[in-house]
Amino acid sequence: MKTRGFIFDLDGVIVDTAKYHFLAWKKLANSIGVDFSEEQNEQLKGVSRVKSLEKILSWGNKTISEKEFTDLMTSKNDDYLVHVNKMDENEILPDVTKTLDFLSSTNQSIALGSASKNARLILNKVNLMNKFHAIVDGTNVSKAKPDPEVFLIAAKELKITPEECIVFEDSVAGIQAANEANMISIGIGDTATLHEADYVFRDFTEISENFLKELKKK
Ligand code: BG6
Ligand code: MG
Repeated sequence: MKTRGFIFDLDGVIVDTAKYHFLAWKKLANSIGVDFSEEQNEQLKGVSRVKSLEKILSWGNKTISEKEFTDLMTSKNDDYLVHVNKMDENEILPDVTKTLDFLSSTNQSIALGSASKNARLILNKVNLMNKFHAIVDGTNVSKAKPDPEVFLIAAKELKITPEECIVFEDSVAGIQAANEANMISIGIGDTATLHEADYVFRDFTEISENFLKELKKK
């Protein structure tokens, strides 16, 4: 059976950290007098830390100094890490470990492709670090999704051509990045939101071993 590169996004695919990002961004936004809703949080999925703060400031019509910007980024991350530090294996989303183990048992190459600078910490907390042959995260990239850079570096590290890679993503920006990289894109979430993906599943419980085997034949 052919070896493919399977690239997993982290936040929203492996663990549901969007709820912690929401709490931390909401605290920050409210502290500077800006409202912040769950709908707005949706628009920050897959978006880098810097770009997220820029969006929040523009929603609230706020202009701040560079120093304030840096301080707000630091305090947002400190708040976020309070939640992350309480994470454990129970926070792995349903059937993620099963899928990783199946791919591994059929000798597939597995990478992480995340925008987060906290990716390694989170993988350690949920004890999944040893499931990946390559880890590419926010500390390795210069261009944020929808730029394909993160996935192209992952493919390179796995030594698999982009066309032979399959990406699991929950964000629109991430699906666009995967498509731009000429990879097969699999959306995890809502079909309407992720309509640009090649396939969409609500979560990994809907992805059968047969489907994965068929993908490997392509
Ligand atoms: C993405 C998340 O995976 O990583 C975004 O979907 C987040 O919400 C981005 O802003 C950057 O993450 P971090 O952990 O470096 O702030
Ligand atoms: Mg995500």
